[in-house]
Amino acid sequence: MNGDRISDSERLYEEALEVLPGGVSRNTVFRKPHPFYAVRAEGAYLYDLEGVERIDFSNNMTSLIHGHSFPPVVEAVTAQLQKGTAFTMATEIEVRFAQLMCQRVPGFEKIRFVNSGTEAVMACIKASRAFTGKAKIAKAEGAYHGTYDYAEVSQTANPANWGDADRPDSVAHTMGTPQGVLSDVLIIPFNDSARALSILNESSGDIACVLIDPLPHRVGLIPATSEFVGDLHRWCMDNDALLVFDEVVTFRSTYSGAQSWYDVKPDLTALGKMIGGGFPVGAFAGRDDVMAVLDPRQEKMLFPHSGTFSANPISMTAGKVAIEHFDQAAVNRLNTLTDYARQTIEDAIKLTGISACVSGGGSLLRVHLKGEQPTSYRSAFLNKKETQILKKLLDELYARNIMPINTCSFALSTVMTEREIESLGRALVDAFHNIKDLL
Ligand SMILES: Cc1ncc(COP(=O)(O)O)c(C=O)c1O
Repeated sequence: MNGDRISDSERLYEEALEVLPGGVSRNTVFRKPHPFYAVRAEGAYLYDLEGVERIDFSNNMTSLIHGHSFPPVVEAVTAQLQKGTAFTMATEIEVRFAQLMCQRVPGFEKIRFVNSGTEAVMACIKASRAFTGKAKIAKAEGAYHGTYDYAEVSQTANPANWGDADRPDSVAHTMGTPQGVLSDVLIIPFNDSARALSILNESSGDIACVLIDPLPHRVGLIPATSEFVGDLHRWCMDNDALLVFDEVVTFRSTYSGAQSWYDVKPDLTALGKMIGGGFPVGAFAGRDDVMAVLDPRQEKMLFPHSGTFSANPISMTAGKVAIEHFDQAAVNRLNTLTDYARQTIEDAIKLTGISACVSGGGSLLRVHLKGEQPTSYRSAFLNKKETQILKKLLDELYARNIMPINTCSFALSTVMTEREIESLGRALVDAFHNIKDLL
């Protein structure tokens, strides 16, 4: 605000409130008193309507692995735009992109493209049901997997409704979720094999799949242990259920996704975000015999599936170029830079003496306003006071030209350098100083 004059963003938000619920199309961008409005972005930098430049550590919620307006993607997509954006025909580019993905990941025998991570997770669940003939699924408490009814159960469970740790309740995320949905979703505690297996054993004959994100952001960006993944895999094999990995976010972690951290392969994997090169995308991939439920050559298809914009040539072109440029050298460089960022954040914590810590893996980090490393959704959960302090921390960072993800997480991109990390370090030192006494 400038005297009595309202800013361009305030004016635009007033207009937005007239036509969009709460003035936004995705709650992720909502903030008080109004959202930031992006005008343009290049590489690691994002510019808002007021002309403020920020280092973008959100990268459209982890999806822009090469930052903004990555020249090879811009060039390839511009060329494709001249030739058409979507056809009621298959295209060569979807075949080439599918080949690239299947060559890259040992467990990807077949792949199908969709338009979002939500759709990809939904398709994995439906494919698991079609393949096994069973209805129930299991997922970790607090894990975010998009907005499919079954996938969002207990995503925002809280101490008032999450129930006993031995047998967490299935908590509706959206008002009006049918009881049938809740009773078909078993909630397991993340990284707690003993409790998880005991819950699974209660419904052993009815479970189509166990859905796991190997580094679940909302649970606390805590890596799944090899023991937990191995135990779930063994249980699935013993009980004719499928192990499904949600790698919508974590595929950026290594050359072949976070699944390469483990000795076992998931039966199906949901993908999205970075594999679209900045355009809307999703995909699901895995075992040939499971993916056969989609095969339209079958007289009786078990899982009939389509989508108007699935495998559209714009997303396929952008995604293929983005993945080609995320070669082993790029992965190594990005993950080394992330180690440096982690050290930088830890140094800022030490220097300021704030009660905080860092979690993460691959090219993702999250700051917790907790003195001790959280090990579960329940221990990472922020109470009301901590949530208010987190908001203040985010405001302090925005004011210092840093754009984090709104859980105070950071998704790095390949165009970042030590320079951006050092700016983050300086901003964190100042921000931590300003909030430290509130904790
Ligand atoms: C782990 C995970 N799965 C699925 C999704 C849903 O993806 P989309 O927003 O593309 O529907 C998200 C989105 O943030 C996610 O973080």
